[in-house]
Amino acid sequence: MPVRPKTPSEIDAMRVAGRLAARVLDMIEPHVRPGVSTEELDGICHRYMVEELGVVPAPLHYRGFPKSICTSVNHVVCHGIPGAKTLREGDIINIDVTVIKDGWHGDASRMYTAGAPSVLARRLIETTHRALLLGIEAVRPGGHLGDIGETVQTYVEAEGFSVVREYCGHGIGRGFHEEPQVLHYGRRGEGLELIPGFVFTVEPMINAGRRHVKTLPDGWTVVTRDRSLSAQWEHTVAVTETGYEILTLGASGVP
Ligand code: MF3
Ligand code: CO
Ligand code: CO
Repeated sequence: MPVRPKTPSEIDAMRVAGRLAARVLDMIEPHVRPGVSTEELDGICHRYMVEELGVVPAPLHYRGFPKSICTSVNHVVCHGIPGAKTLREGDIINIDVTVIKDGWHGDASRMYTAGAPSVLARRLIETTHRALLLGIEAVRPGGHLGDIGETVQTYVEAEGFSVVREYCGHGIGRGFHEEPQVLHYGRRGEGLELIPGFVFTVEPMINAGRRHVKTLPDGWTVVTRDRSLSAQWEHTVAVTETGYEILTLGASGVP
């Protein structure tokens, strides 16, 4: 199926949704502390989304997902289900927020630390963030999806880390997961040619050890097979006439 570019007014609506997702990530930051449970973080985000922002948390009941955010701690790669487990000093956590505002989705995630992380964890988090930004900077009309993948993969592997293959970025709009798939590995010049109005996420999952993952019996939680740490950052991005626009900037304006 061909990918339809969004119109300027559709992108206006997605910018609103994207910024609201980022506001949730801004809001939750001071709550990520040793001793807090991931279900407490879910509850705080859920109430803020529904009561303060007037948005729908997209993950809740999505394909049976039971909570309003994903919380992926340490060796959890993605889709961690909030629960009773509390964060401990040194834990790292990805919080992934997707909101629906006026029918449009905004999807973003960030890494947080409970207390002081290890030197390795800090380097993994910073490398993954840099990989996200380098991948986004490869977005331009006339470029290809493979430009993003090669940029992320080359940088991450030079740092001695690995790129998860089983999960990828995605087109987004009225649908949570639309075409195309945005791989975080590949070859420059390959894949779909980018056109102004395309909107998709870039969301590299990067492992400190080997790239292989498995899903736990709960059917959702994805973990590294070697139990190495994993990190992820995500933005929703639009292709513009001149390059790209990040739709999920927080109040600081820093991507
Ligand atoms: N927000 C995730 C993404 O970036 C998807 C979560 S699906 C859920 O695509 F069901 F686990 F919420
Ligand atoms: Co996403
Ligand atoms: Co997400």
